[in-house]
Amino acid sequence: MAIVDRVESGVRQTASDPYGTDIYTEPPGDPDTLNSLGPLRPLAGVWEGTKGSDDHPVADGSEHSVFVEHYELQPIDFQTNGPQLFYGLRYHTHIVEPGQIVTFHDQIGYWLWEPAASMVTFTLAIPRGQVLLAAGSVDVDAKEFELTAALGSEVHGILSNPFLDRAFRTTSYRIHVTVNDDGTWSYEEEGVLEIPGREVPFHHVDRNTLHKVAEPIPNPLARLGPGDTSLGIGSLRNERGRL
Ligand code: HEM
Repeated sequence: MAIVDRVESGVRQTASDPYGTDIYTEPPGDPDTLNSLGPLRPLAGVWEGTKGSDDHPVADGSEHSVFVEHYELQPIDFQTNGPQLFYGLRYHTHIVEPGQIVTFHDQIGYWLWEPAASMVTFTLAIPRGQVLLAAGSVDVDAKEFELTAALGSEVHGILSNPFLDRAFRTTSYRIHVTVNDDGTWSYEEEGVLEIPGREVPFHHVDRNTLHKVAEPIPNPLARLGPGDTSLGIGSLRNERGRL
């Protein structure tokens, strides 16, 4: 990340800081998130992938599995942290083994595009009691990009519950996304796990290619339409500059 270069009015600024010293004033945003998702636009929608590949740890080493994935990514209203503006997709992916109903893996979070910083930020929560925040610099029209998180980082870090932290400590995470020419998209994700009694870290790797099964549903603000403030959301935003 950028190097701290000056302190002004008590606010830390960095060399690549697009925010300035006013941490309260919010920029205007595009009400229609689907128009402003940058490199995340091709991911919006509902997807399925039947040829997922997983390598996970087992007592005597590692096990390979194939999996079937249902991945939903729906646009949310733009979000601001003072001057910081995000356009995002809320996601839920549910994974089963072929022909099964029981959950093999479940994951929720947000994919966020920040145009001013040309960054993608990704949040991940899994019901093993583990969360992480990964990020990477990405061009607005990129068809391929990678996001990373590391244990111990105060910004793009990984948190595991005490048992996982002791028994299967995730020290780093990366996800590589490729938008394919045929309209599908693929990911490869890797978590590096330290496991007691093993001399080398375990590389928990998952891959899949997702095919679109439904278009995204426009975000609530886009569904209001121009000038339609009947639900009060538009007028709230106008009066107070925020939701
Ligand atoms: C497609 C995605 C994924 C699949 C299919 C998957 C599947 C699995 C499976 C089958 C295990 C074996 C242990 C068990 O059954 O309890 C496992 C272990 C584990 N996974 Fe994943 N996983 C995925 C993604 C992730 C991600 C994104 C993380 C976190 C960054 C993660 C963290 C872990 C950890 C910490 C373990 C070791 C804990 C244990 O064995 O109970 N996994 N995973």
